Amino acid sequence: MQSWIPLVPEQASTLSSKVDALYFYLSGVTLFFTILISATLIFFVIRYRRRSPYEIPRPVAGSHKLETVWTIIPFIIAMTMFFWGATVYFQQYKPPENAIEVYVVGKQWMWKLQHATGQREINELHVPVGRKIKLIMTTEDVIHDFFVPAFRTKADVVPGRYQTLWFEATKPGRYHLFCAEYCGTNHSGMTGSVIVMEPREFDDWLSGNTGNTTPAVAGQQLYQTLGCASCHGPNGEGGRGPTLAGAFGGPANLESGQSVTIDEGYIRESILNPQAKLVKGFGPIMPTFQGQVSEDQLVQLIAYIKSLHAGAEIPARAPGPSPAGTAQPGASPTRNLR
Ligand code: CUA
Repeated sequence: MQSWIPLVPEQASTLSSKVDALYFYLSGVTLFFTILISATLIFFVIRYRRRSPYEIPRPVAGSHKLETVWTIIPFIIAMTMFFWGATVYFQQYKPPENAIEVYVVGKQWMWKLQHATGQREINELHVPVGRKIKLIMTTEDVIHDFFVPAFRTKADVVPGRYQTLWFEATKPGRYHLFCAEYCGTNHSGMTGSVIVMEPREFDDWLSGNTGNTTPAVAGQQLYQTLGCASCHGPNGEGGRGPTLAGAFGGPANLESGQSVTIDEGYIRESILNPQAKLVKGFGPIMPTFQGQVSEDQLVQLIAYIKSLHAGAEIPARAPGPSPAGTAQPGASPTRNLR
């Protein structure tokens, strides 16, 4: 925003100006009252100083009017801060529906990123300008924190769960990416860049970086290798496990009577700790895959399950080696881009 305030980073996302406006409001209110109270204090100290050792001040009685005024005004100010802050918070942490998804895995001391189209990056993230980007983030080891000051976007990544974050960049350029949570010896070196490109340039970049298997395709292969399909087939073959085709985003009715949304976090938990939230009507027979699948592989399995639309064919046997780029679930590089 204003380059005359050297402490404020560049504004490069749709959220930047909203965060800054809130920040300046908070700073303004703080500054106003700091000056008001200090000035009043100094004025009173001088005006009402004791002039002789025998001077006895007049007793002061309470004033309900005054008490009411200085209770109600701060209350109103505090509430504007609360509602304004909550609004910006929900905008920041509730990802929009139609966003391009990028998977992020933090580890000591790097950021590993993968696009839904398969391209992998380390400590760099290429995105198109003017498009909503949703990050699905986790970590392999300790807590890290994904922070892009120019976007005013920042969130901890915590072992054992997914954190989502989104942004929409407003101008092309290269922006700093920091780890903002102390994570060990080389924390200070855990930096990178977000490269915002014109959509056409980004398409070129994307098509120049093929040859990677998409997470969904890698997940499909894993799904076969791990034998998931023998229970979670198209229709829950053998009645042993619920079908996963078309399940993502919908509700799961649990044995406990509760209902949960089938999202990334729920699938992850169900792979690692299958007994935690059993779907109604299915016994506790699924083995845990804790220790057998890495964070990257979890992301792939989830990407595959997401790509299964209702009634999708889930082959029970691993398909032969298929060249990347053939029609596969979620493989179309343009599917999420237009
Ligand atoms: Cu990762 Cu600090």
